Amino acid sequence: MTRQTAPTPALTVPFIDLAVHDPALKAKLLEAADRVLSHGQFILGPEVKKFEEDFAAYTGTTYAVGIGNGTDSLTLTMKGLGIGPGDEVITAANSFLASASSVIFAGARPVLVDMLDDCTIDPVRVEAAVTPHTKAIIPVHLMGQPADMDAILAIAEKHGLYVIEDAAQAAGAKIGDRRVGSLGTAGSFSFHPLKTLNACGDAGMVTTNDRKLYEYLLLARTHGLKDRDDCVFWSPNSRLDALQAAFLGVKLPYLDQWNAARRAHAAFYQTCLADVVEVARETPGTFNVFYMFVIQTDRRDDLQRFLRERGIESAVHYPTPIHLKRAAKDLGYKRGDFPVTERWSDRILSIPATQWHSKDQCAYVADTVREFFSKES
Ligand SMILES: Cc1ncc(COP(=O)(O)O)c(C=O)c1O
Repeated sequence: MTRQTAPTPALTVPFIDLAVHDPALKAKLLEAADRVLSHGQFILGPEVKKFEEDFAAYTGTTYAVGIGNGTDSLTLTMKGLGIGPGDEVITAANSFLASASSVIFAGARPVLVDMLDDCTIDPVRVEAAVTPHTKAIIPVHLMGQPADMDAILAIAEKHGLYVIEDAAQAAGAKIGDRRVGSLGTAGSFSFHPLKTLNACGDAGMVTTNDRKLYEYLLLARTHGLKDRDDCVFWSPNSRLDALQAAFLGVKLPYLDQWNAARRAHAAFYQTCLADVVEVARETPGTFNVFYMFVIQTDRRDDLQRFLRERGIESAVHYPTPIHLKRAAKDLGYKRGDFPVTERWSDRILSIPATQWHSKDQCAYVADTVREFFSKES
């Protein structure tokens, strides 16, 4: 019996390649590093301040505060809004776990709700989950797709709730001409290396127009210290690192062009794959930055294997929804509680579609996906 082997790949396509290959960008990053090494202000200082100003201007908010990562930026924002023990915060079951774990770190209880077909939180279910204990809603602009902020803000106003946008996956995304991070009480960003605006390590940011929250965060990120000795409240150390701020300052001017490249890959995949798989779409009225390009099929695992054998890496974001993670046992949820999220988790596959991928690579991915379905059918 002859065993069938996968053909030698025509191309190899990594899911993501974080090394800096653009010589002009690399030169600017090295110049920024050199500047920081020369002035020696490694903690906060001019690099952090300048990037905060630039990012606030970019998102269209009055203030931005650099934080150590996107999880702490959510947690500290909640603490700054007075959210803590006994309070509930509503967020998405189908997010990265930090949308919920940050609520726990703030001392409150995450209340999860199911998603819409565009992978963002379902406002009808959000409203159904409001109780007298609810203090805030954390809509997640998942995969770069902005959540339905009009509906969420209306619910928040009706029930007197804060809205903290989890914009970790969506720097540069918009609703109309307004950028995410400027729509709620505060916006929380991650600049983890995988993100649309990515540091060379961990980094985060809170954007807000609320002066009181801004002033709280300036202290909260640095031990609650007002000056070297005056500790006003207990707080962790979670400052945006000066080197990362310098790198991010170099990268911010590229963000729109990088997002445009992701959108072009998304448009290409939408055109040539929609008849074989469900493809991610942009909800009308929004500007999706396609942090990940997600396709859906019942044959996800077989397709992923087929792609891998042909040199194409793909990933699942996320195979286990938050309510089914081991750590979530205490929250009391069970399989079946969020059917849309659970079905989504079983069927999704993120395929290569970053600004670093070439058109040829995406064409090879698309051809290979089509080949899988032509063989299987
Ligand atoms: C939706 C979402 N929220 C929060 C975070 C947390 O960000 P960080 O990894 O910077 O703590 C991430 C990123 O990993 C994320 O994707």
